[in-house]
Amino acid sequence: MESQQQSAQSTDGLQSGGAYMQQNQRAVTTLRLVEMKQKAQKIVCLTAYDALIARILDDAGVDVLLVGDSVGNVVQGHETTIPVTLEDIIYHTKAVKRGASRSLIVADMPFMSYQVHPDEAFRNAGRLMKEAGAGAVKLEGGQRVVEAVSRMTAAGIPVMGHLGLTPQSINQFGSYRPRGRARDEAEEIMNDAKALEEAGAFAIVLEKIPSPLAASISSLLTIPTIGIGAGAGCDGQILVYTDMLGLTLDFNPRFVRRYESLHERITAAVTNYAHDVRAEVFPNENESYQ
Ligand code: KIV
Repeated sequence: MESQQQSAQSTDGLQSGGAYMQQNQRAVTTLRLVEMKQKAQKIVCLTAYDALIARILDDAGVDVLLVGDSVGNVVQGHETTIPVTLEDIIYHTKAVKRGASRSLIVADMPFMSYQVHPDEAFRNAGRLMKEAGAGAVKLEGGQRVVEAVSRMTAAGIPVMGHLGLTPQSINQFGSYRPRGRARDEAEEIMNDAKALEEAGAFAIVLEKIPSPLAASISSLLTIPTIGIGAGAGCDGQILVYTDMLGLTLDFNPRFVRRYESLHERITAAVTNYAHDVRAEVFPNENESYQ
């Protein structure tokens, strides 16, 4: 309830997606995101996994659609993102690409598609761009992936980094607790962020780290930071779209604000439909052919 009140206040006086889009038709590019940071314009990002949702989010003016490996949890029903394959991300990125016209599409590199060797990482990133139609790729990690990042950026593949609570390392972390609270962890994240920027990354996702740390990284870097559970000091924000629309019920971290209760609304609609079929009031004459 509290979050719905906050949302109503925060959208008060703002334009709807349609009106926003009439004035902001230009396709979003990585350069544009850096310009948005320079102009202190916040970057709006959400995940997307199919053409239907991509079209709705794109029409509503979302700047970046991330084909996240969260598809493993959200769509495939896995406990973690670990089982997601490169073929899965290619399939979903193609679908998102067909639905979107303005948003920048970022394809997530799944576990083990970039860790083995920079050559392999480079080839796989190339497939996401060439076969799937991504505008950029994202990968998790800092200094340990900078060689792969440099290879990609030198060849014209835009790369988004991802630091903090990186879900592909969940088996190493052992828990989903925030990262970077301890001084040494905070320093490591800060150094990783600098290393990614030096390697040519165009943006960095900061996940579940303390707000002051995220704000310091954001003011130190010239490339934008995109926060998820990293506070308001980031240059943009991202959420998994099924969380912010209330489609998922069993995932309730404090950083998720629910803007809708679609789980309840869909359940009510389907219950009504089932009632009408069983009561033989659907279909009626007008819904039938003679
Ligand atoms: O896979 C994903 O959806 C992500 C975002 C939550 C940043 O990595």
